[in-house]
Amino acid sequence: MKERGEKITMVTAYDYPMALLADRAGVDMILVGDSVGMVVLGYENPVPVTVDDIIHHTRPVVRGAKRPLIVADMPFMTYHVSREQTVTNAARLIQEGGADAVKLEGGREVAHTVKALVEVGIPVQAHIGLMPQRASVGGSFKVQGRDAATAEAIIGDALALDEAGAFSVVLEFVTAEAAEVITEKVGIPTIGIGSGPMCDGQVLVLHDILGVYDRAPPFARPYANLNKVVLEALSAYRDDVRSAKYPGEKYTVHMDADEAEKLKKKRG
Ligand code: KIV
Repeated sequence: MKERGEKITMVTAYDYPMALLADRAGVDMILVGDSVGMVVLGYENPVPVTVDDIIHHTRPVVRGAKRPLIVADMPFMTYHVSREQTVTNAARLIQEGGADAVKLEGGREVAHTVKALVEVGIPVQAHIGLMPQRASVGGSFKVQGRDAATAEAIIGDALALDEAGAFSVVLEFVTAEAAEVITEKVGIPTIGIGSGPMCDGQVLVLHDILGVYDRAPPFARPYANLNKVVLEALSAYRDDVRSAKYPGEKYTVHMDADEAEKLKKKRG
């Protein structure tokens, strides 16, 4: 698609119904991201998410989405301790979860990790720029590559990851200028999130697209307002139950009249 100049669409999903709909909508790639920790499990950051959590959420996504490429996130500290542990964890996401590929955060310092996984046959998507797993040491949620020196560093990271064998790289909250250079320089597709229009594709967190929460990152365009839709539906349901409007005749099933009569007689 990169060679043909076709933009690649990617979205996160964490369950069967949303995977089914993402597939039906024609999305190219689904990410079972560790953002599941924040948008589904209620954590403040992705740190508590485990390999078991990602496997649990990848399985229904695989059952729901047949066409898209499915990428499973490697959670915090699951690819740092040793090569053996890294390969074991990544293999579980592929073998037990059913993912097609894994994603991990980091620049040139994880290039050897990417290489080790690719060497044993596990496709890897890299992730640079803003790295939510490192937010506690990397400071606040801010745009990466604002000046020439930091932009150069990110470009160097992208080249190292391409060289290491990653099949794609996510650029999170990187200035559009730096993202454009990376997209030109690397052979692999760049998938942007808050990184401008020049990337080969875009990814967004599903809950941001759907407007599930009141708040979203500044770069995330909401395409729906599920918050409002769901609140209205649940409030209407609550009101109807309280006022006995629901279920009403329309949603009620009766016995045949003669059977009802028999029952009545039996019960006196
Ligand atoms: O976990 C996630 O959803 C991600 C995206 C923000 C790219 O890593």
